[in-house]
Amino acid sequence: MAKSIKTIGVLTSGGDAPGMNAVIRAVVRAACANGINVKGIRKGYIGLLTNDFIELGVKDVADIIHTGGTFLYTARCEEFKMVENQKKGAEVLKENGIDALIVIGGDGSINGARRLLEFGINTICIPCTIDNDIGSTDYTIGFDTAVNTAMQAIDKIRETSTSHERCSIVEVMGRGAGYIALWCGIANGAEDILIPEKYDGDFDGLIKRLVDRIILNREKGKTHHIIVNAEGIGNTYEMAERIEKLTGIGTRATVIGYMQRGGSPTAKDRMTASLMGAYAVKLLSQGAENRVIGLRNDKLTDDDITDSLHMYKDIDNFMYEVSGIMGR
Ligand code: ADP
Ligand code: F6P
Repeated sequence: MAKSIKTIGVLTSGGDAPGMNAVIRAVVRAACANGINVKGIRKGYIGLLTNDFIELGVKDVADIIHTGGTFLYTARCEEFKMVENQKKGAEVLKENGIDALIVIGGDGSINGARRLLEFGINTICIPCTIDNDIGSTDYTIGFDTAVNTAMQAIDKIRETSTSHERCSIVEVMGRGAGYIALWCGIANGAEDILIPEKYDGDFDGLIKRLVDRIILNREKGKTHHIIVNAEGIGNTYEMAERIEKLTGIGTRATVIGYMQRGGSPTAKDRMTASLMGAYAVKLLSQGAENRVIGLRNDKLTDDDITDSLHMYKDIDNFMYEVSGIMGR
């Protein structure tokens, strides 16, 4: 028989994502509705090691559903990768009377949660990262907002590129995952997208293919050439320099960067955050242990943490094909 849950902890960890505040709000409000106390842990796993806990009630999460960032703060905590610190974190949770922990973050944060289970801590993870790179879910909170931010920036770059008849290389985020680049590629009507899932590591070969396409497109009468580059594929500035030299066409590089991580979450991110936050609490009240929440085919799902970390999500090949056809 699972232990009844009286107090839960909640933390945000890893790269922040629009919608993190909406998840914390949903967790707190759902918990309060079920008579469960909530303690917020600040600065991700750092707060576990430094005992940085705050009580959270209904009013403490007022007026945040529409805000970016995370009011609990987030962090990358290298020390937490050491077993002795994971053990210490588990002890601190127990000392604070925490019966279960809700971890809001990306795959690294889920990995951290899995380590805690080895020290008897029950965790429920909520996928929240702009990268959308968690295998057990079709969707991670923050992705939609980030894509819309990048899309709006690329629309602007497109206008100036057309006016000057230039080529533009725009780098978007994604740390080893091409989802933001793929979505922008289609939504912005980019001529080319470069994503890690389809990159063979041959940078010179890639430059040659791009140069050939840019020249061919110019001959066909295209006035601009937009390349959306997922971070991690070569150096965007070097790429622009080499392309300009080889084509004779003015080429500019833009790295959109951290703009993509901030901003007011879209309706989709607020909705997903609210549903996943409430679902995490529902699972805990039903006695669930060590789950990662997800969305598959638009339905809420939950998988065992260890299983989730072994799941892999492929880029949708048809989407990739479409991006190629549309950019001709
Ligand atoms: P994200 O959750 O956005 O993927 P990171 O990969 O940076 O971000 O992970 C966030 C934090 O999760 C790390 O700084 C660390 O504290 C914790 N973490 C990541 N991997 C592990 C691991 N293998 N063991 C323990 N903790 C980990
Ligand atoms: O995890 C989200 C992400 O935005 C990645 O796309 C990016 O590589 C990384 O975080 C950069 O984050 P930071 O500079 O904060 O470590």
